[in-house]
Amino acid sequence: MEINIQTGNEHKKIGQYLLENKEKFIHFWEEQIIVHHHKDNKELIIQNGYLMYEVVVNSILHEFSEQEIKSLAYKVAQERADANVNIGEFVYNINLGRSIIIKYVNLSGITAEELHPVFELINKQFDLFCYYAVSRYTEIINTKLQEKSLFITQTHKDRLAILGQMSSSFVHEFRNPLTSVMGFIKLLNHDYPNLPYLDVISKELEELKFRITQFLHTSKMDTLVESKYEEITIHLLIEEVIDFLYPSIVDRNIRVIPNINEEIKVNGDCNELKQVFLNLLMNAIDAVTDEENVREIKIDTILENHLVKIRISNNGPTINPEAIPYLFEPFFTTKKLGTGIGLFVCKNIVEKYLGQITCISNDHVTTFQITLPIKNN
Ligand SMILES: Nc1ncnc2c1ncn2[C@@H]1O[C@H](COP(=O)(O)OP(=O)(O)OP(=O)(O)O)[C@@H](O)[C@H]1O
Ligand SMILES: [Mg+2]
Repeated sequence: MEINIQTGNEHKKIGQYLLENKEKFIHFWEEQIIVHHHKDNKELIIQNGYLMYEVVVNSILHEFSEQEIKSLAYKVAQERADANVNIGEFVYNINLGRSIIIKYVNLSGITAEELHPVFELINKQFDLFCYYAVSRYTEIINTKLQEKSLFITQTHKDRLAILGQMSSSFVHEFRNPLTSVMGFIKLLNHDYPNLPYLDVISKELEELKFRITQFLHTSKMDTLVESKYEEITIHLLIEEVIDFLYPSIVDRNIRVIPNINEEIKVNGDCNELKQVFLNLLMNAIDAVTDEENVREIKIDTILENHLVKIRISNNGPTINPEAIPYLFEPFFTTKKLGTGIGLFVCKNIVEKYLGQITCISNDHVTTFQITLPIKNN
């Protein structure tokens, strides 16, 4: 950036005047600057004030140096960013310095004609200083943000990879014996219908199967299990899930109100879709459990062109709007014993069937909506 400097007599006069009144002007400035006592280092701000004053006087008396302004601006920007303070106050303080200099130089008795070119120089310096400091500050903050988000993404990926590896071996080791135990329990039940505790054992094993399947869906599910594509009647599937959850529904005194179109069929793997509804209903059950008034879960279906919208709503507490974008991310949980993979699994499965899952939550109701293509007859 080029600047035309005339180092005439007026420059000397004003430079000299500024040198003589340095302490006074900086003292005026110091009394008016904005300082955050808990964050800012006032000494440092004042030290920088002196440095800037020197740069200004130097350029009036001797030589204008853009490099000098730039270095000081970069130094201040780094300090502001390290202290994690807003750049607004800094811009205010620097402009305050400019006003004080201009105001008192105006009162110096030097003629307006003589002052004019020097004012231009002073303004130019302050403008450049602000420009360099704010640009640098923004750069530093942006880099910091990028590094942070890179770190989060990386840790996230690492955790997912570990979970994937764990799940694969875990699922292999547990699923096959579990399936055969469940088969033998069925046989026992058939051969000895009056044998006690079989129902309890079956129920517990079903729970275990749900958890194991959940892990299965966080790993490379397509390679581990082949999804069957069969015709699924939504209302039958949801009824099955409600039956399965019936003990917790009764235990927690929850009213479940299904309003499901009995005609609706979709194409998919029954176990996978069951996993989706289990997760959504279990979450809804958890959500209404703290509700002191009536605890209600509604299930509705809406047909729209070739799509079905399945809505699972509950009257539990509102989900914090800031949490909504993270609900479907793995490991996001607000529960003491939650793993935070339920909704992640739901999203994976629903998207596999070219569907969508969304959530809306307000003071009255929280709704999770799944949209799936319907099976045409
Ligand atoms: N119906 C709902 N009402 C309120 N908050 C909900 C509801 N469903 C999900 N959430 C919020 O979303 C978070 C994530 O749900 P998600 O099912 O993924 O995990 P989780 O239920 O915490 O654990 P798990 O892996 O055992 O399912 C929950 O911890 C809860 O904060
Ligand atoms: Mg859950």
